[in-house]
Amino acid sequence: PDYTIDVDTAATGPAIDDTMYGVFFEDINDAADGGLYAELVRNRSFEFLPADREGWNGLTGWGETALAGGAGTAATPNDDARLHERNRTYLRLDLRNAAGGAYGVTNGGYGTGVAVAEGRKYDFSVWARTTAKAGTPITVRLATASGKALAKPLVLRAEGDGWVKYEGTLTATATSDAGRLSVLAKGTGTLRLDMVSLFPQDTFMGRENGLRKDLAEKIAALDPGFVRFPGGCIVNVNSHYGYDEASGWQRARSYQWKDTVGPVETRATNANFWGYNQSYGLGYFEYFQFAEDIGAMPLPVVPALLTGCGQNRATDDPALLQRHIQDTLDLIEFANGPATSTWGQLRADMGHPEPFGLTHIGVGNEENLPREYAPIFVQFRDAIKAEHPDMVVISNSGPDDQGPVFEEHWANNRANDVDMVDEHYYNSPTWFLQNNDRYDAYDRNGPKVFLGEYASQDGKLFNSLSEAAYMTGLERNADVVKLASYAPLLADVDNVQWRPDMIWFDNDESWGSTSYEVQKLFMNNVGDHVVPSRASGAVVQPEPITGSVGLSTWATAARYDDVTVTAPDGSVLLADDFEDGEADGWRSLEGRGSWSVVDGAYEQSDAAAENTMVVSPAVGATDYDITVKATKTA
Ligand code: AHR
Repeated sequence: PDYTIDVDTAATGPAIDDTMYGVFFEDINDAADGGLYAELVRNRSFEFLPADREGWNGLTGWGETALAGGAGTAATPNDDARLHERNRTYLRLDLRNAAGGAYGVTNGGYGTGVAVAEGRKYDFSVWARTTAKAGTPITVRLATASGKALAKPLVLRAEGDGWVKYEGTLTATATSDAGRLSVLAKGTGTLRLDMVSLFPQDTFMGRENGLRKDLAEKIAALDPGFVRFPGGCIVNVNSHYGYDEASGWQRARSYQWKDTVGPVETRATNANFWGYNQSYGLGYFEYFQFAEDIGAMPLPVVPALLTGCGQNRATDDPALLQRHIQDTLDLIEFANGPATSTWGQLRADMGHPEPFGLTHIGVGNEENLPREYAPIFVQFRDAIKAEHPDMVVISNSGPDDQGPVFEEHWANNRANDVDMVDEHYYNSPTWFLQNNDRYDAYDRNGPKVFLGEYASQDGKLFNSLSEAAYMTGLERNADVVKLASYAPLLADVDNVQWRPDMIWFDNDESWGSTSYEVQKLFMNNVGDHVVPSRASGAVVQPEPITGSVGLSTWATAARYDDVTVTAPDGSVLLADDFEDGEADGWRSLEGRGSWSVVDGAYEQSDAAAENTMVVSPAVGATDYDITVKATKTA
């Protein structure tokens, strides 16, 4: 059809900042360990603890190996012989090898195994101490599960009963995505090991403790204006309580930047909200470094002492709050302070004497308690502004794009005259098409908007088209919407907590989604300013838009039974009485509370979250003309 776009080149609309479109690096879906962080050994520091997850233990990811009369026992104690106070457990091998025998452990890497490519070099390192007077010979082998060698073995010798780091290089003689790394010791005595590590030498930009090249290059190719990090729910969940003061240590805690800096062997690990362990090998220094390497503005988000993501708890501990506010000031010093300052010196010691130039910082993520959040935010903001008046301190609007929580947050944000508000929403393609004008009505003199997380869900390819259409609305309102990032960025096909995602990977390959291509197009073509334009002609409504409308609830528990979805011609697309205990053909929008079948009805279990259950895309209905009938029983 004829279609005309009239552009008024003489008129000038709002300026578009170079930082308008960025990425949100979130540690979800194995995005860090086993993903962007190039470490190939899983559980390198033996810190998977049974108390954190059923089935975990210090040797998760590892197996015992004995060769040619080798014998011994392997344990992962948490005792005073540890390598570092925050790196609690280590591997203890009590060796009882016959002459010539070897005993040790083998690591299976991530996914199908340790991925190596012929000709590439890999840096191996391990911390060790031994009680054997003459030292302990250690052989490091890279092979397939069936024993085919993937590199010439590396031979090291541990000496002395104090922790020493031993290093060497393995060169892959074959390509495999299913390698196994074995560390085998000869002789007798007690050998203690920790931080068993294998890194490809060609990390992104050759950085030590660096990033997986293919993934980092895909992110760099987007040319993002900023990098928001490190989450998401991992930032705020469990932030309402502090360390266990008795041990100075708390597992399963919120993301605290000081846990993630300094030499890697001194960093804590954490059992995170998404169900896996974080080594923090990819920590705040590495995030800042990566942002700088790809020419993007760093945008960290710190916990606000409220636990969101479905849990809704706020701290009542003023001392803990003050500690976190001080941590945030220290973070700014780490990023921007002179190399002579306490935290600036740590940055310099880690290899970056120059400041990173931090200008924006977020406080909290998807906070669901506006009344508790607002005064906390103001305390953070005022403390930051007192020392750094130009720092943009970003506030919150909660987990929803509208509704009472959102409205209360915005009222508070306006009353407190905040700089910028972080909005998040995951909606259907139809929603994105119908809400292109969302920001046209925003107050030009009010707080600016950071659209920190958004994605169209459940429309397959149509997701990306509706996102592209929506982004024209963001850009048209570039005087209000200052920053925008699609979410989530990365997903390991073997460990997915959230979809859709922008870039997918396994242990040796990665590929972008169609949304990746949309983001790349926009980020690589950011204009200087908006030019008023008007489109005319026959506008074709793309179809089909598959199942994005269903039953939706706000801030209330709801229960439905006997649901029927009917097409315009009267044919029944889907009918479910939920008596078989399943919700056939339905799914809920993940991450916003959850639906489950209870007593033969479909129930939203989280009373405080918006939730929509949607027709499975397999139904193929167009969402603007299906009819949904259901009995609301609660
Ligand atoms: O991006 C996935 C999740 O979505 C984030 O962790 C959270 O902020 C949001 O609910």
